[in-house]
Amino acid sequence: MSTEEAVAAHYSRGNILERLLDVVKKSGGNPAHFAPADLQNADQLHIGGAASTTRVATRAGVNAGSHVIDLGSGLGGVSRHVAHDFGATVQGVDLTPEFVEAARSITECTGLSDHVTFSQGSILALPFDDDSFDVALMFHVGMNIQDKDKVFVEAARVLRPGGIFAVYDIMLLGGDTEQYPLPWAVTPDTSFVQPPLAYTDALAQAGFAVDHEAKPLAEGVEFLERALSSGGPVGVEVGAMSNLLTAFTSGILAPVEIYAHLP
Ligand SMILES: C[S@@+](CC[C@H](N)C(=O)[O-])C[C@H]1O[C@@H](n2cnc3c(N)ncnc32)[C@H](O)[C@@H]1O
Repeated sequence: MSTEEAVAAHYSRGNILERLLDVVKKSGGNPAHFAPADLQNADQLHIGGAASTTRVATRAGVNAGSHVIDLGSGLGGVSRHVAHDFGATVQGVDLTPEFVEAARSITECTGLSDHVTFSQGSILALPFDDDSFDVALMFHVGMNIQDKDKVFVEAARVLRPGGIFAVYDIMLLGGDTEQYPLPWAVTPDTSFVQPPLAYTDALAQAGFAVDHEAKPLAEGVEFLERALSSGGPVGVEVGAMSNLLTAFTSGILAPVEIYAHLP
């Protein structure tokens, strides 16, 4: 099995759409037609949920005229959020067929299909022309990708000159070895966490100018503590969230945002 097949198998959880629609029903919504917020963050598979999506998209300058690519779009939570709240047009791309199908169905139910579309495939080889997008977002995907250089070269290719790239990943700070399972991998075989410097070097190599870096660690700890007591994103195991919390509090891993632009 290739790394990409193993990663897609990890995220293929079964019944994901039913589980998301259950969240809508439990919050009193109509599962045939609802607002993105009715999913209660269950479709945002990253630290901080919708609040961090708003923060990163704002810092990346997303607005109503933006044409955005969401790299590793998962269940489509980030894509729908920036389309609904910022008025952007969004193209999501994800490896996991089950996630792409669920993302399309949920988007249909939220009435956003004219503004948000999804492709199934690898972000290492994007099926889009050069200079197609204003902003690229990548939330919690790089941990599953060894060849980040290739992703950043692809992002640079599909962004127009002056385009902005915001990466929000879990990164390696050092110290001890992280314990598995973690939310993105059951074993180290499909986990490629790297330090922020590896990201900024690879971004510069791909032609980006790095503008800003932020480490919302306190928010990450708080988010995981809350998720552990009340349930986090759909399908993320308690043991994996607990190991991630330990890695945060012991200084091994941290959520890190990096903002860069093309000249
Ligand atoms: C932790 S989820 C994050 C999903 C989404 N960005 C979010 O924040 O809700 C990681 C996603 O990355 C996707 N992924 C991992 N490697 C990928 C690759 N090479 N190409 C495209 N998607 C990939 C997985 O399928 C999964 O949906």
